[in-house]
Amino acid sequence: MRGVVVASLGLVTLTSLVAPPAQAAQEHFRPDDSAREPYVKKPVAEGYGGAVATVDLDASRAALKVLKQGGNAMDAAVAGAATLGVTEPYSAGLAGGGFLVYYDARTRRVSTIDGRETAPKAMTSTVFEGIPFGDAVTSGLSAGVPGSVAQWDLALRRFGTISLRQALRPAIDTARDGFVVDQTFHDQTEQNAARFKDFTSTSALYLPGGQPPPVGSVFRNPDLARTYGELGRRGPAWLYGGALGREIVATVKKPPITPGSTRVVRPGLMELSDLTAYRALERQPTKITYRGLDVYGMAPPSSGGSTVGEALNILEALPRVGLHEYLEASRLSFADRNAFVGDPAYVNVPLEGLLSDGFAKERACLIAPVAMPHPAAPGSPDGAYGPCAPPSPSPSSDAVDKGVDKGVDKGVDKGAEKPEGPETTHLVVSDRWGDVAAYNITIEQTGGNGIVVPGRGFLLNNEMTDFTFGPAPGDPNLPAPGKRPRSSMAPTIVLKDGRPLLAVGSPGGATIITTVLQVLLNRVEFGMSLPEAIAAPRASQRNTAATQAEPAFIDRYGARLTALGHTLTPAPGPPAGEIGAATGLEFLGHGKVQAVAEPTRRGGGSALVVIPAPSPTAAATG
Ligand code: GLY
Repeated sequence: MRGVVVASLGLVTLTSLVAPPAQAAQEHFRPDDSAREPYVKKPVAEGYGGAVATVDLDASRAALKVLKQGGNAMDAAVAGAATLGVTEPYSAGLAGGGFLVYYDARTRRVSTIDGRETAPKAMTSTVFEGIPFGDAVTSGLSAGVPGSVAQWDLALRRFGTISLRQALRPAIDTARDGFVVDQTFHDQTEQNAARFKDFTSTSALYLPGGQPPPVGSVFRNPDLARTYGELGRRGPAWLYGGALGREIVATVKKPPITPGSTRVVRPGLMELSDLTAYRALERQPTKITYRGLDVYGMAPPSSGGSTVGEALNILEALPRVGLHEYLEASRLSFADRNAFVGDPAYVNVPLEGLLSDGFAKERACLIAPVAMPHPAAPGSPDGAYGPCAPPSPSPSSDAVDKGVDKGVDKGVDKGAEKPEGPETTHLVVSDRWGDVAAYNITIEQTGGNGIVVPGRGFLLNNEMTDFTFGPAPGDPNLPAPGKRPRSSMAPTIVLKDGRPLLAVGSPGGATIITTVLQVLLNRVEFGMSLPEAIAAPRASQRNTAATQAEPAFIDRYGARLTALGHTLTPAPGPPAGEIGAATGLEFLGHGKVQAVAEPTRRGGGSALVVIPAPSPTAAATG
């Protein structure tokens, strides 16, 4: 069977390389509505009738097409996400998961849908102990039960107007007809080549001729086109207990290792019954108010909403807010996130306390004019808040025992050695009715676990390595059967007077939280327009000794922050020196929307609107 798969994928290899880029754009994109727009990636668009921003032009066009055909924001978000599974397959896909925050204009309510991957029943708390992180990633063991398809299905049934089959159509077209390989896709393939070549299915698909597809070539994935097509016809049960599920289980248990490879690939624990048991879940969003705005985010098992929310509450409790305060509020919020947040079905997460103004005031008292000693200890979000608590003892002393007694750790991330790269992706969509989607999707590391399901055209996730490896007694994020690993994904929607003002989110592992926080502060606190807020240089403090920062941030602010006791270190990437790749929307009033993607990070993103405004506002700061 393996030989057949390699042979058929070999055809993909040949056709992938023949068409030059200019021809590709003309040849492969049919003259539908969206094709009348210039095939050009722009980071900012303003207009009416619906808007979208993603990291990728093809995905933005897919979502826009659905909007133009009368679909709503949820329809377009699912279509965009499925297309990102084709064109950004190392960040997202049908075997991944995600978190979605949605504003429904009809009810004026914000809802969220949790499509997080779950641990198989056979998972144990010590499963990753002693395994080097990289070895754990590239294994069957790291693959969680996929959540994306169940999430798409629930999202469409709950809020959409089209079927899953219809929502998958743009992605099927893109997978079948191909997309033009850009530098990001090429580079991400190259970064993964050493492990991709160790799996017959992955190398056949993503290393045609043994090399990453060249920039400018057309990359087709007919296997994925067929998989999406069959998924549309058969429905989610095909994956959750059906034949596709059986193929996933077989791949996880016996990865298709290239003959002669010396890689030790641990088999996975997933059974068909784990797939049958999977459910996407509707959850209450987190909500805090900041400067009179209502900020809605994703509740646990994501730490996105609680950590962004706590940091904003701390900042609001301070007399002044600048970059020093941003870093310190983030440090404290990460101490609490690491100590308290895990899957709420397994851990008693004190969410109300973490998001309370009383707790925020207590934490804000710890912020001095100079940087606090590292690491910050977690607080006590227990409802009993003094006016200004004395600083907690250093976690290097008795706080260790205290933390264990309370079932928490020291607030220092046990997964701190885990590299926080550019993994995951985020899209935003709005429609003519005023609905808004902010949607984070992921397969965890860039390239997931590196294993393509043979003949199916998609990579498996490695989301189980988002659990704490341990030993870490009392850690809220230890693996357990059926548990969802803690996430940092932070899709965020901000309302002003009950109406959408902003939607924002980003990839980047745990830096997602600091990117979203910084973009919100840039926009709301520091007076930048949304394009400026997204383009501005970033820094990420996550209760680590040094604050990771982009070179431009260090150049501009490094001296002043160092004088206050901060240590700044260049963000590792890849790409080196980059943090996040945000997308956002701002609602400018009278139905006008500004869609914003990155101007340069990750190669720049794509913002599109249904009806472009005559002249975009250069810097809408209103
Ligand atoms: N896998 C990235 C996250 O969930 O935060």
